[in-house]
Amino acid sequence: MSRHYPSSADPKAKPFTVPAIRALKGSEKIAAITCYDASFARLIDQISIQLVLVGDSAANVIYGLDTTLPIGIEEMMMHTRAVAAGLSRALLVSDMPFLSYQPSAETAITNAGKLLQSGARAVKVEGGGSHIRGIISKLVEVGIPVMGHLGLLPQSVHRSGGYKLQGRDAPDAERMLVEAKLLEEAGCFSVVLEKIPADLAQKITSAVSIPTIGIGAGQHCDGQILVLYDLLGLDPAFKPRFVRRYAELADVIKQALADYADDVMGGKFPSDEESFP
Ligand code: KIV
Repeated sequence: MSRHYPSSADPKAKPFTVPAIRALKGSEKIAAITCYDASFARLIDQISIQLVLVGDSAANVIYGLDTTLPIGIEEMMMHTRAVAAGLSRALLVSDMPFLSYQPSAETAITNAGKLLQSGARAVKVEGGGSHIRGIISKLVEVGIPVMGHLGLLPQSVHRSGGYKLQGRDAPDAERMLVEAKLLEEAGCFSVVLEKIPADLAQKITSAVSIPTIGIGAGQHCDGQILVLYDLLGLDPAFKPRFVRRYAELADVIKQALADYADDVMGGKFPSDEESFP
């Protein structure tokens, strides 16, 4: 159970605010995880996780789609509501889905507002170019905390041509380093670094005063995030290098379902105790 500090079950436990997450840089590593529903959120709430992301990876792991592009703001609002219902301590951040922020700052504010009204306390957007930074500044100006996202940008998968390691060549690495500093200047309280070399992530982490949260970015980031279903081993076929599986739940779940089916077909379920007289 809780190892480093009290869980939400502890009455003294305070919720993690945006400034509290920022303040963890340099003092404590940040454990972050994605989540999409209330049942898992309730479990996460009982352990020491500081940040929970309702990722648009829901498109992949919940809806079975190849990319994150088809998921929309309505789905992200529903998943945000569900997670918020089960969570009391970790900072809840929601991904802004494809085309919910890119068109204009006005569109971004309207859609980020919907996520905050659904229970998120901050939003995450992908990219570090000048257009996105302009939108981030406007979000922050109206009081909406923003997490940045650099490196592999799943919403730009068709531009990058696949889910490849980013920042490998010197100009790309230099651009990312500059963009990380500019994201901080634009007002981001934290930045996700996805699938980049560990030494680049280390340089970025030293260059900015906001926490970096890595996924496939090595051990020098200020925190780490994994997709919940990957960590739990719900898809045995998906095992990228950067994922550590802490359970093999696919096996556990299949066994439970097979036992149930056997019991029903063998007339062993329900028993008298499981029936009403
Ligand atoms: O959508 C997502 O799950 C993410 C994480 C991989 C950071 O953006």
